[in-house]
Amino acid sequence: MPALPLVAYANRLPVQKIRGGWQASAGGLVAALRPALETRGSAWVGWDGGAEDMPRRVDGLDIELASVSLSRREVAGYYHGFSNSTLWPLLHGAIEQPVFDPGWWQTYAAVNERFAAAETGRRAIRWVHDYQLMLVPELLRAYGARGPIGFFLHTPFPPPEVFARLPWRAQILAGLLGADVVSFHTDSHRDNFVRTCLALRDDVEAKADRLRLLDANRTVITAAHPISIDAADFAHRASGAGATRRLNSLRQQFEGRRVLLGVDRLDYTKGILERLRALELLLELRRPLRSTLAFLQVAVPSRGEIREYRQLRANVEQAVGRINGRFTEPGHDVPVHYLHRGITPDRLLAYYRLADACLVTPLSDGMNLVAKEFVTAQGATGGAGALVLSEFTGAAEEFRDDALLCNPFDVDGLAATIELALELEDDDRRARIQRMAATVAENDVYAWVERELDLIARAGGGTRRASGRERSAA
Ligand code: G6P
Repeated sequence: MPALPLVAYANRLPVQKIRGGWQASAGGLVAALRPALETRGSAWVGWDGGAEDMPRRVDGLDIELASVSLSRREVAGYYHGFSNSTLWPLLHGAIEQPVFDPGWWQTYAAVNERFAAAETGRRAIRWVHDYQLMLVPELLRAYGARGPIGFFLHTPFPPPEVFARLPWRAQILAGLLGADVVSFHTDSHRDNFVRTCLALRDDVEAKADRLRLLDANRTVITAAHPISIDAADFAHRASGAGATRRLNSLRQQFEGRRVLLGVDRLDYTKGILERLRALELLLELRRPLRSTLAFLQVAVPSRGEIREYRQLRANVEQAVGRINGRFTEPGHDVPVHYLHRGITPDRLLAYYRLADACLVTPLSDGMNLVAKEFVTAQGATGGAGALVLSEFTGAAEEFRDDALLCNPFDVDGLAATIELALELEDDDRRARIQRMAATVAENDVYAWVERELDLIARAGGGTRRASGRERSAA
């Protein structure tokens, strides 16, 4: 790990409030970043989410929390508006129509300035995350922040002809190119970004993984580093007593049924409606499945202030009602079990272990960690579940050989793939799970952090020229 302190930038801080007290978030990312973050002088810059009591430190996490508070107007323009109603659909290939609103753009730019200005004093590796903060790398450079700058995009990056629709495309590209390293989950997202830079700017040359900025006389490195999970910890907890107890009671509840599982934030990128339509088609065509198949969909509430998300919820709930209305056999359980809420870690692990097939069928997804969690939980417990995986996820690049790949827009094809998943021999499914789990174990979130931070540290070390302000501060 590099010795410089780390300053991470993300829309959200890595803490959560549980029973009135703040603690480190449960996610694998926070755990993975710990060794780097707990170097003396590290900090995390993030929105306080409206909490008025955000502490500068929390017990058990030795970093400074540099919180950014936003007004209601800023939340509306920066978060709900430009981040989630403009960039989010655009970056996912415009599967919903992106909204282009100059007022939102101005607020996004102003809020990015506040993030960038929050902490510029110390010499540090600066690691900026995701689409909410795309202007921050260039702003950090302009503000004379010392040390290398990396940017990681957690969503896909679309082809140039889609990105080019954005009225503020030049500013967003300039923002990203302020970094020394710009990273993506996959080669195809990285290639889209490189092609976009070449198409929209005339001062860029591309050679292998380097973008040469001719006017600024700088080099930006691009990389493809797929994010992952804390596989060892996840595997350990999957076989733990809590998950096993829940699994036993679920096995009783679903006795005599094969179980299909979906776990997603309730987001239109996730393909939940298409998945439900495929299930409906399957139940229509294969009558015996009506009393022998259960589909368990966990839909974690998300971004409910945005119209498209509310509309999606209504459509999903209508589809669940329709399917259950059509196919519940008298005296039998309903085919679709739908949970619109978050669930505890042990319950999630038990669902992963219970499932005969996990349906990860987004229309577009940067990576998708549900796929990695599922194969890890199954792999650790000798499971023989099948992974039905959309070819439009980053995870498909790693699981190409062992998942059952599908095009989620092709409802007939998806129904056929689900049927195939249920028909594969147990030994075949178990072997596939073992190979996918081994891939995740070898490329866990710690490996991802190390690859990213090593590259950023090396990239900024030699090539970054100090600005005037930097020189006087040094
Ligand atoms: C995606 C984004 C993250 C975001 C998360 C949850 O994974 O890439 O940046 O934090 O969704 O969305 P929310 O809007 O609740 O932060």
